[in-house]
Amino acid sequence: MVNVSTEQQKSRNADESRRHVRSFVLRAGRLTEGQKRALNELWPLYGIAEASEPLDLKAIFSNDHPVIMEIGFGNGEATWQMAAARPDENFLAVEVHKPGIGHLLLKIEEHGLANVRIAREDAVELLRHRILSRTLAGVRIYFPDPWPKKRHHKRRLIQPPFIALLAEKMQSGGILHLATDWEPYSEHILEVMHNSGDFENFAPDGGAVPKPEWRPATKYEKRGERLGHGVFDLVFRRIA
Ligand SMILES: C[S@@+](CC[C@H](N)C(=O)[O-])C[C@H]1O[C@@H](n2cnc3c(N)ncnc32)[C@H](O)[C@@H]1O
Repeated sequence: MVNVSTEQQKSRNADESRRHVRSFVLRAGRLTEGQKRALNELWPLYGIAEASEPLDLKAIFSNDHPVIMEIGFGNGEATWQMAAARPDENFLAVEVHKPGIGHLLLKIEEHGLANVRIAREDAVELLRHRILSRTLAGVRIYFPDPWPKKRHHKRRLIQPPFIALLAEKMQSGGILHLATDWEPYSEHILEVMHNSGDFENFAPDGGAVPKPEWRPATKYEKRGERLGHGVFDLVFRRIA
């Protein structure tokens, strides 16, 4: 029998608590022939290779336009529409689901978009290690997994340390736009944001705002509507 001392156990527990709980579970998902081609041929053009050094955003987009990061773009339908509507803004789109990445690559090609780049990695790790302080003009997180069961709440992306990380990476005046169809998650987000002190809510009553014109409908939003869920757009400005 292995005898684990109290000190060893304490140090294991500390390691455990430092380990980052991921906000996603990688789904296998089948790739269409078009998505396979896109991942082979288009990824080298629009994908950001995994590495550990910080990203040079000006070099990646070949200009110094404001950079908006979208976290968890799903199939990218909202992403390509936002990018097409705002050619003067750069979109750094982050997702881990391969078929969704393939789908967005095809849309980038179809619409000839020059202002979208895709990172295929955990957005938390990307932010921590590869995004320099105060370089993001905006962050969009549409319909993040709500993890409704209490025992899964620790997987929710929106938590105080994550919001502190975003605050560090966002420029003063930058806009953080979240949307969810899960009311208890919207309440949780409002509480975390209220306690952060780094952001101010656009809504005069401190709640949700009407859907801003810049957000196209997303796949998960449509699913939520079919299920009779509401939609809560939460918009904040990075202060100071
Ligand atoms: C519920 S879906 C919503 C997708 C899309 N925004 C929409 O509204 O249709 C959430 C997405 O976020 C992605 N995701 C969750 N946590 C992530 C993380 N830490 N980094 C990158 N993507 C993440 C998941 O893979 C999933 O595709």
